[in-house]
Amino acid sequence: MKFFIDTANLDDIAEAQALGVLDGVTTNPSLMAKEGITGEENILNHYKKICDIVDGDVSAEVIATDFDGMVKEGEALAALHPQIVVKLPLIADGIKACKYFSDKGIKTNVTLVFSPGQALLAAKAGATYVSPFLGRLDDISTDGLNLIAEIRQIYDNYGFSTEILAASIRHTMHVIDCAKIGSDVMTGPLSSITGLLKHPLTDIGLAKFLADYKKGNE
Ligand code: E4P
Repeated sequence: MKFFIDTANLDDIAEAQALGVLDGVTTNPSLMAKEGITGEENILNHYKKICDIVDGDVSAEVIATDFDGMVKEGEALAALHPQIVVKLPLIADGIKACKYFSDKGIKTNVTLVFSPGQALLAAKAGATYVSPFLGRLDDISTDGLNLIAEIRQIYDNYGFSTEILAASIRHTMHVIDCAKIGSDVMTGPLSSITGLLKHPLTDIGLAKFLADYKKGNE
């Protein structure tokens, strides 16, 4: 399972990268705004900074909602750095743009996916990644994990190579449950990765080992 971090915060990205388990980064316009990154030039520079920190794929989202605009923006994003993946919304023109980019060998991440039918369309358009938003479904009392399971079944039925990128992950149990279902990738905040480290018995056990070592070596 690949671990992506879902943020535009360079410190968080560097911390996850330093842990040695980071496979990539996803961003979106809201995450960029949260970091105060505004204006086309600053946003493009920020993507380059992210690519300099991580080794893996970095999703950069288009703002345009029409096919021509998405193609223009996506081509500029893809030209920025070989690690850039063009992130496209799941609307008709987004699917057309996904097909356009996949035919050209440019990686894509189809985002804002909330149903199995949408995920099927993204796979047929040749998406590299499909991003079902499980946390946002949970937020409205709908079973987000079930969506991941349904997409897994559909993709396995036909051998689609599109990778399921479980997005809108909120906590460690989302990560564990997605791993059980067989999601190819998860993207979440730093806390959803570092939270996996935590177990009180690990801390108690380590303290005991160190105390016993100290006693034996006094
Ligand atoms: C996906 O790529 C999105 O950036 C993200 O996971 C959305 O998460 P949120 O629902 O926590 O905003």
